[in-house]
Amino acid sequence: MTMVPLEIFQTILRHLDRLLVYLKIRPIGLRLPKSASRIFETRNHDVVLPTSIMRPLHEFQREALALFSEPCNIQRMSHMSACLNTEYVKKLKRGTECMLPSFCHTLPTGQEEGTFIALDMGGSTFRVALVALSTRVADNDGMNIKHITVNKINESIRRLPARQFFAWMAGKIQDMLHQCKDGQISQDETISIGLAWSFPIEQTSHQGGTVQPMGKGFKAHEGVIGQDLGNLLEVACRERGLEVQVNAIVNDSSATLLSQAYKDPATTMSLILGTGTNAAIYLPVKHLGEDKFGMRDPSWFEQAEKVIINTEVSMFGKGILPTTRWDEELNRAHSAPDFQPLEYMTTGRYLGELLRLVIAEAVGTCQMFGGLMPDNISGRYTLDTALLAAIEEDTTMGCISSAERIQKEFGLLSLPTPAEMTFLRTVVEAISHRAAAYIATAIHALWSLKHGGPHEATSKTSVAANGSVMLMYPGFRTRCQRYVADMIAAAHSSKPSRSNHEVLIQPTHEATILGAAVAVAIADAT
Ligand code: GLC
Repeated sequence: MTMVPLEIFQTILRHLDRLLVYLKIRPIGLRLPKSASRIFETRNHDVVLPTSIMRPLHEFQREALALFSEPCNIQRMSHMSACLNTEYVKKLKRGTECMLPSFCHTLPTGQEEGTFIALDMGGSTFRVALVALSTRVADNDGMNIKHITVNKINESIRRLPARQFFAWMAGKIQDMLHQCKDGQISQDETISIGLAWSFPIEQTSHQGGTVQPMGKGFKAHEGVIGQDLGNLLEVACRERGLEVQVNAIVNDSSATLLSQAYKDPATTMSLILGTGTNAAIYLPVKHLGEDKFGMRDPSWFEQAEKVIINTEVSMFGKGILPTTRWDEELNRAHSAPDFQPLEYMTTGRYLGELLRLVIAEAVGTCQMFGGLMPDNISGRYTLDTALLAAIEEDTTMGCISSAERIQKEFGLLSLPTPAEMTFLRTVVEAISHRAAAYIATAIHALWSLKHGGPHEATSKTSVAANGSVMLMYPGFRTRCQRYVADMIAAAHSSKPSRSNHEVLIQPTHEATILGAAVAVAIADAT
């Protein structure tokens, strides 16, 4: 093919443009006429550089590994923990977005009883269950899910406006009630409900709380911020002829804490890491500023010595937890930039997206996958975090099992090369190890709120762990546990009084839905 002089000139400019990207200088962004573009553009309109000026994949792999791993050493993590701790203390004193006190001032005793409808509105499922609590005895935790329905939340449900969203919830509650066997639920009475809500909420009572911006890609808060959540759901149910009364609302982090405390009284913290992340902590009321409690009856303060706090810990970390250029890209393209810095670097919703952004750069600058971004992962949030877990779990020779899965999921014509597999595995491990390090740092900083004094006694804290990444991602919980222990040990070398402190991150089972039931039982008893 012969090129006219103008096309040759444009081609040189295009190469220059890509070279600037490679050298990390802002490209000049030249647009080519269609005819010239065809020669150099890939399917996704990325320009392909001649192989001679491509960056070797192993070199990029080294850089990515260094960027993700650099902050993950105990010394730096301990420093970050101290900075986070300072931020936590500030937000415990004032502000309405995070460090939100619930109305739960006692932990369950394990003696609460009753049968309840429990709802768990999570990031990717809405579950409706009939739960029986029958008191804890030696070999039985006394919690029983008698019936449960699991409803997937897809992107279209995430985007529903408030009215349709609550109508959808009401429909699913009705479906579950229809499925319950005769006699399990009385048809004549108003049905008492406990709701675990995986989004921020400003509690106004045990039963009530006002809607706050939801995150996780949901739209249902738009137009109803500040309205009562329980009321919105009750009205939606009534419109379907269903008389329900929301008798307890708790954030999913508090629900997790409540259900595990029902089983194990040493539980005073919880940690969620699934689609989103959060933690709850049981702290003395005096740690919080007066304004944090809103309008509460003075009798509440007379009874309350400690209180369960929904920390919304996902919102912390900006300016403290180091970011890579891929984090920054993700944040820039996010519908709520900077809203949840810790979450954007650690949770199931984002780990896959981070890997996708690294792959996109490798495709563009290192000829990964022949320089073509696979169509199946060319859109945002199209790479599932479950794939990262599968890659890390793979013990087959040459990671053949995950190579085959990648070929299928990405829609590649051939298997990824061994060098590409090594690259992917290295980056995946770097992303997940950093996530574990940041989560451990956030937990250590929270735990330090309980153990700030110089002379405190020996202690054992159980942290109830929940969420798909925490419970299912290979090695994740163990890594977090080790990081927290190492941070405590490192502090011990300078402060001998901390030597006997132990933090145990305990896996839970069905904690959110069970916790919603425990919350109703506690509310009924107060
Ligand atoms: C998000 C929400 C928070 C929730 C967490 C875990 O960070 O803001 O309320 O607890 O996800 O589901």
